[in-house]
Amino acid sequence: MTNIILLGPPGAGKGTQARKLVDERNLVQLSTGDMLRDAKASGTEMGNKVADVMAKGQLVTDEIVIGLIEEKLNNSTADGFIFDGFPRTLAQADALGKLLARHGKKLDAVIEMRVDDEALVARITGRFTCGNCGEVYHDQTKPTKIDGVCDACGSTNMVRRADDNADSLRTRLMEYYKKTSPLIGYYYANGDLFSIDGLAEIGEVAGAVAAVLDQQA
Ligand code: AP5
Repeated sequence: MTNIILLGPPGAGKGTQARKLVDERNLVQLSTGDMLRDAKASGTEMGNKVADVMAKGQLVTDEIVIGLIEEKLNNSTADGFIFDGFPRTLAQADALGKLLARHGKKLDAVIEMRVDDEALVARITGRFTCGNCGEVYHDQTKPTKIDGVCDACGSTNMVRRADDNADSLRTRLMEYYKKTSPLIGYYYANGDLFSIDGLAEIGEVAGAVAAVLDQQA
């Protein structure tokens, strides 16, 4: 049983590494960003409420995202989870600790992915995703093998996110430094923090994540 948090700024590579762990370690990815985008796409009341906040790059309220995670934990029989993009505030971190305890689970590791701002801009502005299976690509660092065709599922429905632009990214980074980066100290104090170089090539980052998880096993 492994429960981990991938912690890092927008574009650090959390989603990319989470998808690898799902394939390789049979863990369930819980991405609050994906859950919110799904709610937006299906036009639920909550999805409509958060659409503008997300497009601007601001954080959605703690109440909404904690509710989403609680629902997933209540309805899943999975052994282990990768929390991707959650928690993002101290209130969310406290809530996660309580939810895990209520389910008889504990946190095994918080992996901080360190990437500098310049690289984040390049990563975010070059990102595109398969609209069918969610595989994440990049114009330069991870292009599809056949132009416009998803390597994983063969779909040609490639999408770019509404918040992947310079203005939103500035706000997303500011939100990260103001509200999320204090979690680094919080988890360090709890003895759960592992810090890795997120600037390395995707396979090397995956190796560093695997080394942390193997230490915990
Ligand atoms: P969310 O979807 O969580 O976005 P984010 O945190 O900004 O993170 P990203 O998905 O942009 O980046 P990533 O780290 O997953 O990077 P990726 O692997 O794609 O949140 C979106 C919004 O939802 C928030 O702004 C907020 O409004 C709301 N929200 C979500 N959760 C919330 C919460 N808990 N509380 C409140 N509000 C919340 O990689 C990026 C690119 O780089 C890709 O193209 C990839 O191919 C490439 N890449 C990845 N790794 C490497 C590497 N090692 N080398 C080179 N390229 C790489």
